[in-house]
Amino acid sequence: MGAMGRGHLLLLTLFVVLLHPSFERDVYHKRQQYPTVKIQEEADPAFWLNEARLGIESRLSNTLNRNKARNVVLFLGDGMSLPTLAAARTLQGQREGRTGEESQLFFETFPTTGLSKTYCVDAQTADSACTATAYLCGVKANRGTLGVTADVLRTNCTLVSPQHYVHSIAEWALADGRDAGIVTTTRVTHASPAGVYAHSAERDWESNADVLEDCPMTPNMPADIAQQLVHSYPGTHLKVILGGGRREFLPVTVVDEEGTEGKRLDGRNLIDEWLEDKTARNVSHEYVWNRRELMRLSTSPPEYLLGLFEGNHMQYNLKADPDTEPSLADMTEVAIRSLSRNDRGFFLFVEGGRIDHAHHDNLVQLALDESIELAAAVRRAAELLGDESLVVVTADHAHVMSYGGYSRRGAGVLGAADDRGDDGLPYMTLSYANGPGARPHLHGRRPDVTAEEDFGDLDWKSHAEVPLEEETHGGEDVAVFAAGPYHDLFTGTYEQSRIPHMMAYAACIGPGPHACHH
Ligand SMILES: *[C@@H]1O[C@H](CO)[C@@H](O)[C@H](O)[C@H]1NC(C)=O
Ligand SMILES: *[C@@H]1O[C@H](CO)[C@@H](O)[C@H](O)[C@H]1NC(C)=O
Ligand SMILES: [Zn+2]
Repeated sequence: MGAMGRGHLLLLTLFVVLLHPSFERDVYHKRQQYPTVKIQEEADPAFWLNEARLGIESRLSNTLNRNKARNVVLFLGDGMSLPTLAAARTLQGQREGRTGEESQLFFETFPTTGLSKTYCVDAQTADSACTATAYLCGVKANRGTLGVTADVLRTNCTLVSPQHYVHSIAEWALADGRDAGIVTTTRVTHASPAGVYAHSAERDWESNADVLEDCPMTPNMPADIAQQLVHSYPGTHLKVILGGGRREFLPVTVVDEEGTEGKRLDGRNLIDEWLEDKTARNVSHEYVWNRRELMRLSTSPPEYLLGLFEGNHMQYNLKADPDTEPSLADMTEVAIRSLSRNDRGFFLFVEGGRIDHAHHDNLVQLALDESIELAAAVRRAAELLGDESLVVVTADHAHVMSYGGYSRRGAGVLGAADDRGDDGLPYMTLSYANGPGARPHLHGRRPDVTAEEDFGDLDWKSHAEVPLEEETHGGEDVAVFAAGPYHDLFTGTYEQSRIPHMMAYAACIGPGPHACHH
């Protein structure tokens, strides 16, 4: 750079510094304390002009893909709010030794981004059941209900009649002769994956013990969700089912491979019944319960594969035993290898389900790590899929984690903000509006959470304002990322229930309008 360039650079830097909202505080209170990381190339305007030029060029060269989508893969980050994405990408970059903010999660490079409105028919802030009904069945419903219309009220023990059923895009794919499967890090009977195959007035009816508890005197009891997965269409025809939740399939008298007791009160072993059903249908099939068994099948999976890797939800990635627990990317790979054998194509649902659980417990580090794991699974899928595949990545609802303060560039995103509160005490860059991380005030003062013995541990709860046993969901929009055929449909701000209709349009399946007319 010549002398002229350097002069301009100095002016620009001065300009940027003067415009910065925290300029005054920085100069008068913070400058000495917090030296700013400087990335020299970013001080050159040419860096940003080049960044913009590449962005415009890549957008213009992006020809619309008007092929029919043979395969559709929907990735769901449960509770993966916009601040979660921003913080996760920062953490990802910082783990790679960079400042972090400039990093991108793999799916953030997709050509189309949109926003989905997540409210439900009876709820301003959604849960994972009514949203699953929206983004899988294309219809908004009541909170807590799965695969049924909003005429069905939550926990109503009257057997739902088929006239109130709504059907998922997995069923639309099966009706077209394609295959379908589910992969999740939660129990496979949990709300999000259950949206693929269940019709239930209550998301918590995962085993018959739950139905009995809510509906003790009901003569014609609704079938629990595990039973629907094993015995009802389309659960019976899912070629791949991978996740946690063995306890929902086993009777109380049975202890599973890792010591978890079953929950069922009807004496039924639904894992055995799944095996019997496949034997009776004379189809190749396999049940696996650990990573080693799963990976042994990865290159030549049987026609039907059931993998249950935990009694309850699968472990958080950072706490998992890699010998027994496959990663989300591992499971996604096996599922795609299995479903790709159908020439007509497939629909696959992949959920990073524990982002939500970590947020509910204010375990912010785990929430971000699980989001990074989801991005790794999307990357693995992209390596395996051709350009006939539509890949959509979204979340069901937001959370109340905020990402704030005026920290310097590259500040550890899991740490305290550079600033202090007006009470002179540190506050966290990532904190929650509510949840179990609320601390009692001592003599009218907030505690200094950074002084806690377990500060920064995996199980350390970030600070929350309102004490609540479980942190709540957020009501704002969530992002939708799309790549592949008709990705451009996913731009804009729209109802969450539009998502499966757009995927079905691109794939020419389902009851709605199609991209191809033959
Ligand atoms: C449950 O649903 C049935 C059928 O729709 C309805 O007749 C009944 O009134 C509902 N019960 C309650 C308690 O809401
Ligand atoms: C079961 O499938 C195998 C292999 O596809 C076939 O050879 C056999 O005849 C089938 N048996 C029955 C009873 O249908
Ligand atoms: Zn939740």
